[in-house]
Amino acid sequence: MKGIKIALGIFKVPAILILLLFSSISSTSAQQNFYDSDQLPSSFHQQRRELLRKKLGPSTCAVIFANPIRNRSNDVDFQYSQDPDFYYLTGLLEPNSVLFIFSEPVSFNGAMIDELIYVQERDLKKEVWNGRRLGVEGVKEKLQFKTVVSGKQWKDSPPPIESFTKVLVKYPTDIREKSGTSGSLNSMVYNLKESLQDAGKEMAAGSLMNALASLRQIKAPEEMVLMQKAVDITLQGLSEAIKACKPGMTEYQAQAIVEFYFKHKGSEYPGYGSISGSGINSCVLHYVTNRKVLEPNDMLLMDMGAEYHGYTADVTRTIPVDGTFSEEQKAIYNLVLEAQLAGIEKAVKGNKFNDPNQAAKDVIAKGLVKLGIISKPEQSGVYFNHGTSHYLGLEVHDPGLYGPLEPGMVITVEPGIYIPEGSDCDKKWWNIGVRIEDDVLITDNQPFVMSDALPKTIEALEELMQQPTLFDQIK
Ligand code: GLY
Ligand code: MN
Ligand code: MN
Repeated sequence: MKGIKIALGIFKVPAILILLLFSSISSTSAQQNFYDSDQLPSSFHQQRRELLRKKLGPSTCAVIFANPIRNRSNDVDFQYSQDPDFYYLTGLLEPNSVLFIFSEPVSFNGAMIDELIYVQERDLKKEVWNGRRLGVEGVKEKLQFKTVVSGKQWKDSPPPIESFTKVLVKYPTDIREKSGTSGSLNSMVYNLKESLQDAGKEMAAGSLMNALASLRQIKAPEEMVLMQKAVDITLQGLSEAIKACKPGMTEYQAQAIVEFYFKHKGSEYPGYGSISGSGINSCVLHYVTNRKVLEPNDMLLMDMGAEYHGYTADVTRTIPVDGTFSEEQKAIYNLVLEAQLAGIEKAVKGNKFNDPNQAAKDVIAKGLVKLGIISKPEQSGVYFNHGTSHYLGLEVHDPGLYGPLEPGMVITVEPGIYIPEGSDCDKKWWNIGVRIEDDVLITDNQPFVMSDALPKTIEALEELMQQPTLFDQIK
């Protein structure tokens, strides 16, 4: 973008040329990362395709599209983010691509193949704007695909779907009306729909999504390395923000300290919109405005996660802005902590997915009655109005089958109590919002709390808040 301003500043460019220039800025860079040596190897993605193929059932073809480029406004797009299933199976970070996996080998252009990928071609003019593309040869060489075809060649080399009884398609979301230029994601979606029309082979993609969820819910050791790195970066950021927190700071300044560590330690992005909510905003579950000034009696709830090579952390700590919990804050906080510890205790193999949730809900329901905030346990949903756990991985809310807990699953345990102003209880509880969230690996033995290094007892948090940090000097 900087380059455009300079060019326009120096030269008086005719309006039509400006339009042409701008129209060439079609996508924000989605370049493959050639710089980090700790990325998942192509063999990982290749093995995931093998595992998926085995789950497909006979005479079945699975089709998974890359994510579309999403427009922000005018000629500016959002930073490209690959579809997690497509990434899991290919390792390819570029748009305008689609993967076919066949349950049995099929003839294609004179060879027998069991997988096929259409990708965007190299295009030096576009690469000058948006970064290097792998192209057909690059995908063969770097990502262990034998059969790679340019999306522009679809009509000449269409996918061999006729010999399969079932075609299961995971379509991209928000596809636009028109079919678009040859080789674009849209045109491939439309080409596929055309081929499938009348053939009656397309089935609901539910079984494909289930097969993918059954794979993705169990993390391989290579994935765990990246997840632990994402968690460690997050803990470092949160720990500094906890030390730096004081009245007069803003919610976004607390967020900035955490996100400084994300970038500083090599995380590509936050895995989701960072939540930094104080006072009444601590009671908004997915608050991302983050503009309020922190006041002495506020709680500050920080729910943030670094994304590292695709994998995200999801950790929450809640602290008193002035460094000392009031009696009411203490009572709510300790209740949430007791619920969280009860939930974690149930995060063991063989338990139902809902067991940690049930344990946490029971503790909070009883506790809220005891504090006089509700009169009957059944009312606790007013103040604890979300589930306790979700799977975590490539997505903050990762897919899974919600069956019994198994070793290799990573789940969050994150109970909370939120009492916004105007709630039907004594005013002294108003605007206290507390969530405590850790990332937990299910093992053969005890739960492994990946984010355990970050303090969460009242004593340990109050002590951490006393410690100096570099950020004390930043005005
Ligand atoms: N950060 C969103 C969640 O905890 O689910
Ligand atoms: Mn969270
Ligand atoms: Mn979560």
